[in-house]
Amino acid sequence: MKRVLITGSNGLLGQKITELFSRSKKYEILNTSVEDKPFLPNVDNFHYRQLDITSRSSVLKLIDDILPEVIINTAAVTNVDLCETERALAWRINVKGVENLVYAAKMIGAKIIHFSTDYVFDGKNGPYHESDRPNPLSYYGRTKLASENLLLTSGIPHTIVRTMVLYGVANQVKNNFALWLVDNLGEGKQVRVVGDQICNPTLVDDLAYAVLKIVEFNRDGLYHIAGNDLVSRYDFAVELAKKFKFDKKLIIPIKTSILKQPAPRPMKSGFIILKAETELSIKMSGVEQGLTVFRNQLINARSVDDDPDFMF
Ligand SMILES: NC(=O)c1ccc[n+]([C@@H]2O[C@H](COP(=O)([O-])OP(=O)(O)OC[C@H]3O[C@@H](n4cnc5c(N)ncnc54)[C@H](OP(=O)(O)O)[C@@H]3O)[C@@H](O)[C@H]2O)c1
Repeated sequence: MKRVLITGSNGLLGQKITELFSRSKKYEILNTSVEDKPFLPNVDNFHYRQLDITSRSSVLKLIDDILPEVIINTAAVTNVDLCETERALAWRINVKGVENLVYAAKMIGAKIIHFSTDYVFDGKNGPYHESDRPNPLSYYGRTKLASENLLLTSGIPHTIVRTMVLYGVANQVKNNFALWLVDNLGEGKQVRVVGDQICNPTLVDDLAYAVLKIVEFNRDGLYHIAGNDLVSRYDFAVELAKKFKFDKKLIIPIKTSILKQPAPRPMKSGFIILKAETELSIKMSGVEQGLTVFRNQLINARSVDDDPDFMF
């Protein structure tokens, strides 16, 4: 059995990776996140320990204790606007935290799989290939690029996965774009959605499956992994409204500049995912298929947890 350590396992991606890996008998999984308790109580064959990746002594102690062969780092501060204003915090978690993991991995010869973002690009001429030159606009993007560079110069085996606009259903996670749309449109509320940001929305379950393949095939290097369709956020919202039979007229297209967000966003983003699909033997969902999976998961999750009259 391969020993796998997952950090940030209470997050959206961390939960999906945990669920998927724990279904296979090939892995012994140790889950860690910053909270005392796991948000995934019903998954078999994994153990949970609290771990703050910004504490070098805690990271060293835990890794020395369990000797993982693979460390999957999903821990991060992902709020882009918060990173812009709370720069020390962003650097401590997104860069120093990764430095701690690299330091500990080096001691025992472990491999790291790490996640980065399309926000390392300036969004002037996406969709981007792995070989395109990064030029982050935001502080979040700069922290993620710095974390990539730490791994590149670390000398340890590693895989960097850049992804974007994750959506999916998991326990107690922060609202992602699709969940925010469902919650608002489901209550008949109007939403303003940018029409000038182009991206590949990514079903988080597909990304977790790609990570499983990275481990199975023992792939190193850099991969762009995102959904198959390049769309504006507005187009995605309209597709979601169709899928859930919400009123499309509640979605108001706006320009990004109106929002006056602290962190600038890449406008014409997107990834070319050919390398990942070919080398990992995966097929990433497009918007239609991804939203079908998302809707079914949401129906299951909410009809189990909530009141019987619940209709999104
Ligand atoms: N979500 C996206 O659209 C997106 C797009 C591109 C790239 N990514 C990258 O993909 C990865 C996973 O993202 P995600 O959406 O799953 O994020 P997420 O849901 O915010 O999960 C991150 C998890 O890390 C935890 N964490 C924060 N600080 C920590 C620390 N010091 N030690 C240990 N755990 C800590 C968070 O806990 P708290 O919630 O309590 O802070 C959270 O549970 C990240 O590297 C992110 O940058 C995400």
